[in-house]
Amino acid sequence: MTKRQSLHGEWSSRWAFILAATGSAVGLGNIWKFPYITGENGGGAFVLVYLVCIAAVGIPIMIAEILLGRLGRRSPINTMRYLARQARANPRWQYLGWIGVLAGFLILSYYSVIAGWALAYVFRLGAGTFSGADAETVQAAFDGLLASPEILLAWHTIFMLMTMLVVARGVRSGLEAAVRFLMPLLFVLLAIMVGYAMSTGAFMEGVRFLFQPDFSKLSGTAVLVAMGHAFFTLSLGMGAIMIYGSYLPEKASITQASFYIAGADTLVALMAGLAIFPIVFANGMEPGAGPGLIFVTLPIAFGNMPAGALFGTLFFLLLVFAAWSSAISLIEPAVTHLVEDHGHSRIKACLWAGLATWLLGIGTVLSFNWGSEWTLFGKTFFDLLDFLTANIMLPLGGLFIALFAGWVLARRDSERELGDGWGYRAWRFTVRYVSPLAVFIVFLRSIEVI
Ligand code: PHE
Repeated sequence: MTKRQSLHGEWSSRWAFILAATGSAVGLGNIWKFPYITGENGGGAFVLVYLVCIAAVGIPIMIAEILLGRLGRRSPINTMRYLARQARANPRWQYLGWIGVLAGFLILSYYSVIAGWALAYVFRLGAGTFSGADAETVQAAFDGLLASPEILLAWHTIFMLMTMLVVARGVRSGLEAAVRFLMPLLFVLLAIMVGYAMSTGAFMEGVRFLFQPDFSKLSGTAVLVAMGHAFFTLSLGMGAIMIYGSYLPEKASITQASFYIAGADTLVALMAGLAIFPIVFANGMEPGAGPGLIFVTLPIAFGNMPAGALFGTLFFLLLVFAAWSSAISLIEPAVTHLVEDHGHSRIKACLWAGLATWLLGIGTVLSFNWGSEWTLFGKTFFDLLDFLTANIMLPLGGLFIALFAGWVLARRDSERELGDGWGYRAWRFTVRYVSPLAVFIVFLRSIEVI
């Protein structure tokens, strides 16, 4: 296979890539979703399954996805088209790229609405809205936010504009510049929050909830949700990591980068859990409160602690930053596709992709108020999008990425990129057999359950 160059540029270094991919991986998934689905699914056992999925399925597929990206160096659609042609395989492999672009678009449409909640809370906490507030007041404030489509829409619009702004500036001066500044700040803020949680007196209760597995609480759907979340949190299965991999300099080690990214992502999720659950328990609140968990429990804590307005503002600011650096990677596959296949400039591509995503986001906005009764299989529009993308599309995309890298791509190509030691053989065995089988079994089990 000949060496190709990306049309869209390259990261300035291996570290820039690791930072950007970590920025993509660490997002609402870690800080908003992980704690609430852990709470809904009973804690420890769920966390254990999630960690096994990260190690046995997530990391090998991340290596595969970066590998395909760097070999193809185009949008996920064109990368798959090119790699399939090189391997003399069925041209339908390009649909993998299409599903990815579609999944990114669907995810961003609701992701931006939730990021909008976080934006709203930066200002609420900054204004000291919750100082001294009790549970009822905070719950009422959250319900009030969800009941106002115009406010949700305004924040959703602002967040989409922020995302477009970065993406329009391109790989180095947009994406890379943003994460260089955001990522270090995020770690510092989270560490401060864990420090606070340690002082609540319920820290050990939080630790037990997260790490003491009780398998009687683990349902078949919980296993599917844990696996889906492993893909979601690592940004796998939809081409985000593939397109970031396509900007990776030739010499950087893909395997090492994958371990760093997955490690940092897991660390942030566990830190978020350790920051949030002690506060939940110290205030006698419910861990299974659902998507509103951090928005109804944390403000109570912030409202009743010294300098709570400051910490609260910082916390939600952190959440916005984390969401921002993920959002740009959700839309990058679509933008590169529009540039490559429709001849748009990056700015124009960005506008079109952004506009379409913004429009679809209105569906999610309405699913919390006027449209809360519009359900399919008992799920609202938002629940449906979340379930379809995280639990079906991403694992399916990941499954096919593993199959392509393990069975279709010529061995000499993957070996040349990844090195030929025992690590390579272990990876190849995993993507050929272990990861596909694991995804398949979880799917089967959940079909029975559903
Ligand atoms: N990984 C991001 C998060 O945890 C979400 C995401 C999914 C980003 C898929 C890109 C692709 O919030």
